[in-house]
Amino acid sequence: MYTPQAGIFALGTSSHAYLEFDLLDAAKCKQFASTIASIREPRTTTGGVNFVIGFRPELWRKILPDDAPAAVEGFNKNIQGIEDFVMPATQHDALVWLSGSGYDVLFDMARSVIHDLAAQATLVEETSSWAYRHNRDLTGFIDGSENPTLLDAPLDALLPEGVPGAAGSVLLLQKWKHNVAEWEALPVAQQERIMGRTKPDSTELENKPEDSHVARTDQDEFGHIFRRNMPYGNVEDHGTVFVGFSAEQKRLSRMLDSMAGLVNGQRDALTRYTQPLTGSYYFVPSVDSLRRLQ
Ligand code: HEM
Repeated sequence: MYTPQAGIFALGTSSHAYLEFDLLDAAKCKQFASTIASIREPRTTTGGVNFVIGFRPELWRKILPDDAPAAVEGFNKNIQGIEDFVMPATQHDALVWLSGSGYDVLFDMARSVIHDLAAQATLVEETSSWAYRHNRDLTGFIDGSENPTLLDAPLDALLPEGVPGAAGSVLLLQKWKHNVAEWEALPVAQQERIMGRTKPDSTELENKPEDSHVARTDQDEFGHIFRRNMPYGNVEDHGTVFVGFSAEQKRLSRMLDSMAGLVNGQRDALTRYTQPLTGSYYFVPSVDSLRRLQ
């Protein structure tokens, strides 16, 4: 039995940091993978840090070809939606996602990771995140209501036993800036129609509009995923880091197409108030695969 990276399922952490790297020399990808796999996190019961390590899918295929899931690809080209809506492709080579209870520990660990990788890779994108009102995103809505329970999450998020990449996961990381002034100018009832859920308690609307966010990402249609979204940013400039894990890339990519209006001609109404700034897919290998790299 293979073991997934535990940080995927480590809920309840209020501080997060996403570090994206590009390799300095693509020919040295195996050496880089071995350095990144050797990262050691502090294991204390009160102040530890969780790590999740991911690789650009094509890079992972070069590193351990027999452990690479078939046909998983990076976010290599922009998604051109209807009405000039674009989701930009900003794929990088590797991701280290740190999470913990306090930002001080993450800060020190992030510095040490960047330092340890500096001879082999450059930090190209850094985002830090923090929890807002327990379980809300910065639209003010509860985020994660339709997530699976922790018993079901591994089934939705992980490649099954017996296939290349077993217990690994396909991660979509996408930073969305909120158009705060326009969103907050809307009456709550309209925000609820856009989301497809009520604002105080996240009850699904009975007649949710076809272009509501939950209609455009309906998991009964596209398949089930496990989301770990977090707020990011400052008072003036902020939004949501979408962090979605899936056993199959198609579920995530079809949701993006659907939000962009490419599935049924209806663009997700939430995309009129939020704007994607980045987009990358990473393969998050099992612990057993990472161990083979050391
Ligand atoms: C600005 C970015 C986003 C925000 C603020 C946001 C927020 C939300 C909220 C508040 C809900 C309703 C409660 C819940 O079930 O969690 C929701 C549902 C959902 N979102 Fe998002 N989301 C964003 C982007 C995305 C993206 C990019 C995807 C997919 C690639 C996605 C996939 C989903 C799914 C699958 C659901 C549950 C749908 C169902 O009811 O089956 N979201 N989101």
